[in-house]
Amino acid sequence: MSTAKKEVKRITTHQLQAMKRRGEKIAMLTAYDFSSARILDAAKIDVILVGDSASNVMAGHETTLPITLDQMIYHASSVIRAINRAFVVVDLPFGSYQGNSKNALESAIRIMKESGAHAVKLEGGQEIGESVVRILSTGVPVMGHLGLTPQSIYKFGTYTVRAKEEAEAQRLIEDAKYLESLGCFAIVLEKIPAKLAKRVSEELTIPTIGIGAGPDTDGQVLVTHDLLGITKDFNPRFLRRYLNLFEEIQGAVEQYISDVKDRDFPNEKEQY
Ligand code: KIV
Repeated sequence: MSTAKKEVKRITTHQLQAMKRRGEKIAMLTAYDFSSARILDAAKIDVILVGDSASNVMAGHETTLPITLDQMIYHASSVIRAINRAFVVVDLPFGSYQGNSKNALESAIRIMKESGAHAVKLEGGQEIGESVVRILSTGVPVMGHLGLTPQSIYKFGTYTVRAKEEAEAQRLIEDAKYLESLGCFAIVLEKIPAKLAKRVSEELTIPTIGIGAGPDTDGQVLVTHDLLGITKDFNPRFLRRYLNLFEEIQGAVEQYISDVKDRDFPNEKEQY
């Protein structure tokens, strides 16, 4: 018997690449839990990223480094239970793939098997090539991530724009072409000059998804908590806030507190 889930046409890597060919922009957002993922999927988001930004926005850590593979699997499986249509990509967390391709393969397999996700994302270029090849060899789609790669924050020292200098820009172009040649299906470009992102997007046949990379990437991604104004103290230039949920939710909670204190809640209709 077919279920409602099976009737919806799911987004695939092939569809994302076809979107690039026909010039249709790809919309990607983060989700880490069932309820948010349900809303994004109902809105017809193309790609949901279970980002390791969960370390910041869900767990309150300063960086993405502390989040574990088990925690990523927990978030990813919650998201997967909510979606009918979106393509779901999960970040391999710091320490689960760097410097050891066997470890990378095991981490990717755990994510795919235990969460039911559709692809994994890894940060880096040539230095993670062996891990990318090994994961791809098992048929798991891989999304790359270049530019500002937050798992390397202690190497960079700051979250400022990357690849402004010619040498780093050249290296980024080479890394993007290298990841494409290995078989990555898409690449995130984070916080790099718009001109460079345009050039990379034009020179690749696979889609680029930008965050702080200007308008000419093949798609855009934001952290949903930033877009909704839940994380109110994070205000980079690239961010467009569509709501100010921090204030709205705070207002609702304050109203609830005063209703309880004033014995206004529950009223006669709100009881048995
Ligand atoms: O973890 C994340 O949310 C990300 C996006 C910012 C691209 O990697």
